[in-house]
Amino acid sequence: MILVTGGAGFIGANFVLDWLAQHDEPVINLDKLTYAGNLETLASLQGDARHLFVHGDIGDAALVSRLLAEHKPRAVVNFAAESHVDRSIHGPEDFIQTNIVGTFHLLESVRAYWGSLPGDEREAFRFLHVSTDEVYGSLGKDDPAFTENHRYEPNSPYSASKAASDHLVRAYHHTYGLPVLTTNCSNNYGPYHFPEKLIPLMIVNALAGKALPVYGDGMQIRDWLYVKDHCSAIRRVLEAGRLGEVYNVGGWNEKPNIEIVNRVCALLDELRPRADGQPYAAQISYVTDRPGHDRRYAIDARKLEAELGWKPAETFETGIRKTVQWYLGNPDWVAHVQSGAYREWVGKQYSGSAA
Ligand code: NAD
Ligand code: TYD
Repeated sequence: MILVTGGAGFIGANFVLDWLAQHDEPVINLDKLTYAGNLETLASLQGDARHLFVHGDIGDAALVSRLLAEHKPRAVVNFAAESHVDRSIHGPEDFIQTNIVGTFHLLESVRAYWGSLPGDEREAFRFLHVSTDEVYGSLGKDDPAFTENHRYEPNSPYSASKAASDHLVRAYHHTYGLPVLTTNCSNNYGPYHFPEKLIPLMIVNALAGKALPVYGDGMQIRDWLYVKDHCSAIRRVLEAGRLGEVYNVGGWNEKPNIEIVNRVCALLDELRPRADGQPYAAQISYVTDRPGHDRRYAIDARKLEAELGWKPAETFETGIRKTVQWYLGNPDWVAHVQSGAYREWVGKQYSGSAA
């Protein structure tokens, strides 16, 4: 089996759902269930013996060591993190605690476990750390896209904390020989995305008749990857990545924010037109920019393609249409996130610390 951390969050939950749709290899899912953890996303796995959910913190060394010793996973995939840049600006401490201190404790627990494994299992073991392109900082308009050799220049407390965790993972390979792999991915979008991030926020605000807040001039550029393509990249790196290597993951979809917002509005105009016949773009409202806002991210994912043959399956057009359709088709999931009712799932569906 494998141990996934942060598997009740956006990408982790998509990963667990896809994994179990494709494999019978069981997953232990360790998640602290912060505001971003949503067990409702995993409702289809209720009663599925291949999924063991454990409510806990990656920084809890006693718990993690017990899970490793009891279940003997062949790999750990670390998604657990505080992930929202704006929250990191308002309150960086949780980011330092989970992304840096938590990852450190997780690495220590994993190192002790890995060291105790018999030879062939030790050989086969992998620790895959899921990271972000934001560690590389911001690009100028004409700069080449980030390669794996780009220097680290994080600009937000979020990206700085992720950069620190990447460095720890690297050091555990170089110093202790821990068999690590790191992926640095661009902005994801798709089903089960918490509506504090750009794309889901625009969809749910548009449908609720609220303003669509675009920071600054809306010309900041991100590279966008459909979440299921990120999950397939992680599976591929886990399967065949070279130990100690870093793989950039991206969608070859650089777009300014305002273009994304306009595309979401146009899809909603087509799929769920406003009752008054006006376009959703009329709800766009330019607001004060994010402090220290990175201007442009762009990912060069050629190493992953050349070495491991990975390519995204979705274009931005196909992925964004699926995403808008998913939000339109899942009003209960959205309503429970907005009302906070999703948090009651922990109490309702799971009684103890492990379920
Ligand atoms: P998310 O915020 O949706 O989910 C994070 C999950 O981690 C939540 O379920 C949360 O409860 C859990 N968690 C937080 N602290 C924990 C702790 N101390 N112990 C155990 N669980 C904890 O984030 P996401 O968007 O799914 O991102 C997952 C990972 O991918 C993160 O490491 C993030 O940095 C990275 N990443 C995200 C993106 C993106 O666009 N969302 C892009 C590249 C990389
Ligand atoms: P976000 O989804 O928070 O991801 P990240 O900051 O990790 O890239 O934001 C994506 C882009 O959208 C980023 O340039 C900030 C911008 N943005 C807005 O313009 N308005 C919003 O309400 C949000 C949440 C983000």
